[in-house]
Amino acid sequence: MLATQRRFKGTHLKTPSAATTNEKIEDAATLIVESEYVVALTGAGISVESGVPTFRGPDGIWSKLGQPTTNGYKLFVENPTAWWEQYVSSTADPTRAKFRDAIDKAVPNPGHDALAELERLDVLKATITQNVDGLHTLAGSELIIEIHGNRNFFRCIGCEKRWPRTELVFKGQPPRCPECGDLIKSDTVMFGEPIPRGTLDRCYEVTERCDCMIAAGTSASVYPAANLPNRVLAQGGVVIEINPNTTKLSDRADVTLQGTTSEILPILVERVVALKRRGR
Ligand code: OAD
Repeated sequence: MLATQRRFKGTHLKTPSAATTNEKIEDAATLIVESEYVVALTGAGISVESGVPTFRGPDGIWSKLGQPTTNGYKLFVENPTAWWEQYVSSTADPTRAKFRDAIDKAVPNPGHDALAELERLDVLKATITQNVDGLHTLAGSELIIEIHGNRNFFRCIGCEKRWPRTELVFKGQPPRCPECGDLIKSDTVMFGEPIPRGTLDRCYEVTERCDCMIAAGTSASVYPAANLPNRVLAQGGVVIEINPNTTKLSDRADVTLQGTTSEILPILVERVVALKRRGR
């Protein structure tokens, strides 16, 4: 099966999104239908049409407002009270406040809906998302692995237990985990913070089984997530990229669909449904 799939190697769309041909989407749909364990890896791009900005690129939040400090986790551990004080003061960090507001208002778009549908069809076995906005879950996806956490939750840095954001209140002292006593922080993974072990293990587990990865709306530039498509390729699987721009992954992907995820993913899923109906 994989040998058949590899015949698509090298078909890259280099045309603007409007010219993304049905033929290329058909190629991608065929790869999906012929695969046994399809996994999606999503990034900030899939939430753009929901009003959540990307990080990098011309409209990226960091490009406009600057990147947060790269030793955020170290600063948190050294002084958790300062972190919590800043956390409850929404005006303290304009980058974070803008991002927070956008997420609070966001609802899923057709890209999220399409992946949820692919999961319901039992084609998509997992979605690894780098996004912290929770929009895949709101769209109805259940097999979600949030590699960079979820802004709507807090997490214990020791035992990795999570709580909805609304359940914890800062009362001058940093909250501690009732189970293990360790510090609690936002579930969002900070710069310099290790990905929670359980989450990373699940990412590797599904990637190991994956013979087709859909990389949707990610610059594929932040590790370890950026390395997951490489793992799939190294074990003989295929990678389908959906992105309006070229990324570090584009040259290695089996099919590159140039366009927005809200435009391409619904058509792709429609083609998958059609192929499955024809018994492919
Ligand atoms: P980036 O901001 O690095 O990349 C966003 C990608 O989305 C780019 O490749 C864009 O071309 C693409 N894009 C833009 N609009 C799009 C659209 N409408 N449809 C589809 N794609 C579109 O975001 P990520 O790759 O997610 O981590 O960045 C990875 C990580 O970098 C983030 O999770 C974040 C940051 O460090 C943490 O905060 C821990």
